[in-house]
Formats: sequence, C-alpha cells, structure tokens
Amino acid sequence: MLKDQDRIFTNIYGTKDKSLKGAMARGHWDGTKQLLEKGRDWIINEVKASGLRGRGGAGFPTGLKWSFMPKESDGRPHYLVVNADESEPGTCKDRDILRHDPHTLIEGCVIASFAMGAHAAYIYVRGEFIREREALQAAIDECYEAGLLGKNNKLGYDIDVYVHHGAGAYICGEETALLESLEGKKGQPRLKPPFPANMGLYGCPTTVNNVESIAVTPTILRRGASWFSSFGRPNNVGTKLFMMSGHVNKPCTVEESMGISFKEMVEKHGGGIRGGWDNLLAVIPGGASCPVVKGEDMMNVTLDFDGLRDVKSSFGTGGMIVMDRSTDIIKAIWRISAFFKHESCGQCTPCREGTGWMMRVMERMVRGNAQKREIDMLFDVTKQIEGHTICALGDAAAWPIQGLIRNFRPEIEARIDQYTANAMAHGAVLEAAE
Ligand SMILES: Cc1cc2nc3c(=O)[nH]c(=O)nc-3n(C[C@H](O)[C@H](O)[C@H](O)COP(=O)(O)O)c2cc1C
Repeated sequence: MLKDQDRIFTNIYGTKDKSLKGAMARGHWDGTKQLLEKGRDWIINEVKASGLRGRGGAGFPTGLKWSFMPKESDGRPHYLVVNADESEPGTCKDRDILRHDPHTLIEGCVIASFAMGAHAAYIYVRGEFIREREALQAAIDECYEAGLLGKNNKLGYDIDVYVHHGAGAYICGEETALLESLEGKKGQPRLKPPFPANMGLYGCPTTVNNVESIAVTPTILRRGASWFSSFGRPNNVGTKLFMMSGHVNKPCTVEESMGISFKEMVEKHGGGIRGGWDNLLAVIPGGASCPVVKGEDMMNVTLDFDGLRDVKSSFGTGGMIVMDRSTDIIKAIWRISAFFKHESCGQCTPCREGTGWMMRVMERMVRGNAQKREIDMLFDVTKQIEGHTICALGDAAAWPIQGLIRNFRPEIEARIDQYTANAMAHGAVLEAAE
C-alpha cells in the first residue's frame, strides 16, 4: 500500500485547507521558479524519463507528447489545453482535484506551459461541474493576487490561465471536439492529421492533457523522475488516482501505486465486495468504455495498462465499476449502450447509426426477445463500428458489448431461452382459454 508521504495529492478528500496558503504548507508551489530555471529541455526530458503516461484514458506518454510541440515559434502562439471534461461513467478523480486540490493543477499548468512555450492555458471544465469550476477559479484568482500568474509574475514567465465551462456533452472530452467547442463551435471531433501539436486551438500549436497528467508533473519534477518510476513496473509506472464505485462496501477515490492488485485494492480501500468475494460478478475496470471482465478473471489482475490488456480489457481512467451477483449484467451493458447512443455526435455514419442499432438490439437482449444467431450479428456490428469512425467514441460504444458477448454469452442465451419458454407457455394458456 502506498505510504502517505508518497502521495502526490495531499488533499484529495478536502479535509485540509485548499487555499494557496494551505497548498504551500503541504509542499505545492515549492521551488517552482527554480524548476523553470532548469529549462524547457530539462523539464520535457524529466517527464519523459519519469515514464508518466496520460491519465485521460489512452495512456499516451506525456513527455513525448510535449516534445511534439514546435521548439521555436513561427509567430503563432502556443497553447496548453487541460481536459477537465471528465464525463466517462465510473470516473470521478479530476473533479476531486479541481474542488479539493486545485493548486496541483495550476502549478502544473505553469510548468507544462513553460515547457511548451505557451503563454496561455485553457482549462475546459465539464458543464455539470459548477462547484468545481468555482473552486478552481478561486484558486486561480489567488495565484494572480500572489503574483504567480499573469504578466511579469514572480516566476519570471508570463502565463495566463483561463477556465472555460463546457455545456454537458461527453463528446467534448475528445480532444479535438474539445478544441472546436473552445473555439465556440459545435463540439465535433476533427479529422487527424493535422494533429493539435501543429494545428490545434485557433490553428496554433496546442497540447491537450488530462487534469491528472498535468497536476502530477510539479511533484515529479521536485522529487525526480526515478522516484515516480520506482512505483509499478516498466511501461506502467507511477502513482495514480483509482476510483471504485458500485458494489464495494466503501466506494472511493484513492491514490495508489500502479500495479497494485485488484484484490488488494478492494480489500485495503474498498472495504471488500458487498456480500464477499464469491458474490463478485463482473468489473468494468476503467470507465464505461472498457470491456467488462468476469469477476473470477479479475482476481489475479494487476491494475495497470498491461495487466488489464492481459484480460482483454483496458486500464482506461482507472475508474472501476464493481458489480455483484444482484446485477442484471445484460441490462447494465444495455444502459451503457444507451449512454453512447445519446452522446454520439452523429458525424460518422457507423457511430450515428450503429450506436442506435446496437442499443435497440441490446434492449431486446435484456428482455430475451431475440434469436441466438443475433448475438453473433451484434458482435459483427460492433466490429464494423470499431476503428471506422473519426474518434474513439465508436470504439467506446463497441467494446462494452464485445466484452459482454465474450464473457456472458451463456447468460444472454439463457435469457432468450427463458423468454421463448415464457412465450410458449403463454401461447399454450391462450390456446387452452380459446
Ligand atoms: C469520446 C471521448 C471522450 C473523452 N473524454 C475525455 C475526458 O473527459 N477527459 C480526458 O482527459 N480525456 C478524455 N478523452 C481522451 C482525450 O481525447 C485525450 O486523449 C486526453 O485528454 C489526452 O490527455 P492525456 O494524454 O493527458 O491522457 C476522451 C476521448 C474520447 C474519444
């Protein structure tokens, strides 16, 4: 279990003073100017060496992403954009950073902006996060007052940080849809290339990073790349905010070492599975878009990128939805299908048409009012959506259903058998009544 002194987030539960003074007393904003004085290359190399992979879901190496930004300006401004849209069901870590530990993010914005030659950082906050936006804005105002932000500030690097409020669309979490939305347009993903590092916000070089990815960088630089990479195993390092919701006795968000086992995580932090381990049915391990994994297959899983790939799922955001045997797993996945259908932006035909199609077939699977051969047909449709859309929302809609069919086919077939048996019995009763 991670020791308290190894936790980057010192106020994730909001039990301490979240003001600038409180954050400084806990070690944040310590020696920021000295870190900047080490230069851009040092910062980028250190973040690369730390092995930090993006915490927004895809796990792209953060230092490498920063290095894609042009070294010299061609006259266009550079931008840092922080993705605080956090709308993936099962994911609720960024909101805790925003409302309880906002200075970790603001200090991270200064350092990341400096490393990429940006003098403006935009933080795009999910529409429903009203209190979070207020907490973040209050923290930014404190920094301006204290001379840590703005022109001619004490850190010696001009940087403005702006908060932008979204309007409640999941698709705006996709980084190029987010950029469109920031520009005041309808939030629809852009075709890539060109990538944001070349043509991002307002056609200028831009890097989009998740809140947690940015918020951890000051501490990584202060403590050293090797300190961060000492947690976990190669390619899967660092500390990470994990979330557990659903049928654990104590749902929570907790910072832990990458590579902790699922079992230890549930026992040490989640208070155990409701009704005990035998009652565990399934886990969606990293937010709603990750394929569901059978409970028994989770028992020996290492919680990191490679560990979840080994059970044909993905690490995603680290947000685990735990389901016990009281769950109607077919209905649970249908509900996720309904979510993705609702959130599809409609730009790509496979996603626009396919998400609705999948949801309607899933609706019948929930009742059992389907034919068994339709299970394969449904799987086939998911394969025609996956990889055939501009952004990954199509994949996100396809994977939960693939996971369901892979792991719970007997349950779907039993539901169909039950429906057929009920229908026949009902028909016999009607016949007898005639
Ligand atoms: C439909 C969709 C929704 C997404 N929502 C979020 C989100 O809410 N927050 C986030 O950080 N990344 C989200 N992402 C991933 C972003 O596109 C992007 O990869 C991420 O912000 C990069 O940050 P990172 O490299 O620091 O992880 C989403 C992606 C897709 C396809």
